[in-house]
Parts: sequence; structure tokens; C-alpha cells
Amino acid sequence: MERRTIDKSSNPDPLLPTLTEPYVGPSLFREMSEDVPIKVHMMPKTLEDAINNFETYLKSTEVMCENIQKDKVEDAEKLTQQELQDINDQIKEARDYIYDRSSITIQSVVDKLKSLQKKSGLLLQQKLKTPIERVCTDLAKLCDTYAKDIKKIKENSSPLLVITKREHSVVNIEIQGWDENLTMNASHFNKLIQLYNVWVNRRKSRSRSYYDYTDSHLKNCIARLILRYHTFFGTESYHGVGLQGAITPRTFQYLSRHFDVTMECFASPLNCYYPQFCSAFIDTDRFFGSCGSFFDFYPQSGSFEANPPFTEEIMNKMVDHMEELLGATDLPLSFIIFVPNWTDCSPIIRLSESKYSTKVLILNAKEHRYVTGAQHKELRPHRLEYDSVHETKVAFLQNKAGSDKWKPTDSKIEDMKRVLANESASQWE
Ligand SMILES: C[S@@+](CC[C@H](N)C(=O)[O-])C[C@H]1O[C@@H](n2cnc3c(N)ncnc32)[C@H](O)[C@@H]1O
Repeated sequence: MERRTIDKSSNPDPLLPTLTEPYVGPSLFREMSEDVPIKVHMMPKTLEDAINNFETYLKSTEVMCENIQKDKVEDAEKLTQQELQDINDQIKEARDYIYDRSSITIQSVVDKLKSLQKKSGLLLQQKLKTPIERVCTDLAKLCDTYAKDIKKIKENSSPLLVITKREHSVVNIEIQGWDENLTMNASHFNKLIQLYNVWVNRRKSRSRSYYDYTDSHLKNCIARLILRYHTFFGTESYHGVGLQGAITPRTFQYLSRHFDVTMECFASPLNCYYPQFCSAFIDTDRFFGSCGSFFDFYPQSGSFEANPPFTEEIMNKMVDHMEELLGATDLPLSFIIFVPNWTDCSPIIRLSESKYSTKVLILNAKEHRYVTGAQHKELRPHRLEYDSVHETKVAFLQNKAGSDKWKPTDSKIEDMKRVLANESASQWE
């Protein structure tokens, strides 16, 4: 997704980016590096889970060292004898540490794991730099090849045959020729119908030209939307959800009430709160209120919320675009941005340093919540939201008229912190 921000092709595939330099994107590189030697869950619920994570991490470190030393990872840089010795010492010390269970806690095990990640984990990541770069490059090339292959297939413009079946709170969407069972919860299905009706009414009021606003058109639009996001998310049930997590309805309500926010800069028809929003895919999303990509959106005034996908490329482009918009108008313009408080990520730092920055606040981890990226499929109300695993930075970028009109005063900010902190787990579990 982040590579689409640098795609210069005049007619790119909606989903797959064209091959563009640099082939190694910083976000993908960072994500893949962080999986070395293995991705571990940093918020275990029990001591047993914390110890299991820890042992898996240690075992994976040993296996990774062995694979590197035995040339099983192409192009990996070998460890020196001293480095290998240091890692073995760290592993031994770590095993000794968890041996006496009476003296450890969940937090102390997590801290120990974090310190290991900074030592042996980081060293292994450096040794695997070249293979990771190669995988990033291969993926970039593969996307380009697939995009070209798809273009060669003559576009099938005939409508899909779609049957929707409701069973209690689930809607099954059957598409002719598609074997997988696509489902969504009834409330999101109803929301799509409402958004579609808003779009139809707006269109009818603007133009008299004929358009096929039939039930089968609606079902086709829903089916294409679901197929697009199904592909975009990935094949496993948890895939892609991290990029689609949303701030909570209560936060949106707060922003509307106190800062007149009416639109999201980054959304999809499945996770939007407002009936108008920007989204990644105008071809499938426009029937449900999307104005297209935020980077093709040029408002002169208004108050907006932005919770972008957390990739350097997109966040950098977002700050560039917002600054350009803020500098181009004297009318009130305001953006309230939610990002993780990563202190080593340049676009996130830029948010505090921008000349348009009027307020920055940091929300502590676990003291505010997000809605799962798979909200359209989630049927268990208690799994719809989760406590944030990271600190969140809330940044206000506003021009002069914007900050005059929607000033983030101390009392509003205190109020906002209180509203969000009140969402924390104890209240909902
Ligand atoms: C973190 S979610 C935001 C969820 C929710 N709308 C909110 O504001 O809290 C980021 C969304 O941005 C969408 N997105 C990706 N590229 C985009 C672009 N260029 N313009 C607008 N939205 C985009 C993603 O598909 C995803 O749905």
C-alpha cells in the first residue's frame, strides 16, 4: 500500500503498485526486520504466556544463528566468533533469569525480552540486511508483474451475480465464480446500504442523467468492495487489520462536538464514521461516500480527522500534503491527527515541529482504545475494541483561521484526555 504513494504510472492498478525506485521501501524493510528472529506478542495476559513467548524467542534466536552460520540464509553476513559467544551468553543468562519463577513478573519478562531484542535481535537484523532487502525488491517486482498480467486480461465489465443471505447478525455474500465464503456483520451491511443511498440521493440531486440504481447494482457494488478489501487485507483472518484500526465512535463524537470535525482523511467504507471520507480505492469506494485518495483531495476549509496507515511513506506524504493545503488558504482549515508516538519516525516528529502545529498531546498506552481493523466481520461486541498497545500522539495542524475557530484550549484537551481515558479496559471487560 505504501508503495502506491510513489507510483508514477499514469494508469496504475488500483491495488498493485508499479515498479518504482527505491525498490526497498522503509516501512516494509522495518516490518520485516522487526520479525527477526521472530515476532512476539508484547502484551501477554499471563505469566505462562510471557514465559512461552520468551522461550520461543530464545529458541528462534538459536535457530537463526545456526542457519546464518551454516549458510542456510542466502547473502546473510556471518556472525564473528565473539558475536556468537555474546549471543550464547545472553541466551544463557536469559534462561537463568526465568528459571526461578518466584522472582519474575509478566512485566519483568517482557522487559527482559525487550532488552534482548535490542542486543541479539538488532545484531541479527543487521546480519540479515541484504536478504531482507532482496525480499523487499522481489515483492516490488512481483507486484509489477502481476499488475501487468491483470491488465492483459480483458476486463470483464459484466456485472457479478451476487446473492446475499442474512442469518441472524451475519450476512453471507455469495458471488458466482468465487468459491470463498464472504461474510460481514449485519450492522456493517446496513451501513453500506445507508451510505449507498446517501450517494444515490446526492447524485440524483446533482444530475438528471440515468443511472442504474437497482438492488442488483447495490449488491454488485458491495460485492466488489468486499472482494477488494478481502484481497487488500490478506488471506488469514488477522491479516491487514493493523492498517485498518479506527479511533472509537466516542472519540469521533468528541471531535465533532468540540472541533466540528465532519470527515476522515483516511478511511474505507467499512471503517468510516462519517458519511464522507477519503479512501484508498475510488473505483470501489465512491458508491459509499469516498472522495478518493487523500492525496488527490484539496479542501480549502474545514475540520478533519486523520488516522493514517502507520507507514513512513504515507505519513510523510500526509504531512507534506496537509502543510501545502494549510499554506494555500486563509479560510479556517484544521487537521487532528492520530499516530503512534514513535520517537524515531521522521513524519511523526515533523508533526510536532511543523509551523502549523498548534497542539500535541500524548495518550498513554492502555489508557485509550482503538476499534479493530476487522470491525465489519467481528460479531463479538467485547472484541470490537482493544486497549492501545502503544502511546498515541494526537497532533493538531491548523492555519491561523483554523486555530482561531477550533482552538485546542487546555480545557478542551483535558476534557478529551478524560473522555478517552474513561474508555480503558476495566470499563468494558
Ligand atoms: C488506520 S485506518 C483509519 C480508520 C478510521 N477511518 C479512522 O480515521 O480512525 C487507515 C485507512 O486509510 C486507508 N487509506 C490508505 N491509503 C489511503 C489514501 N491514499 N487516502 C485515503 N485513505 C487511505 C486505509 O485503507 C485504511 O482504511
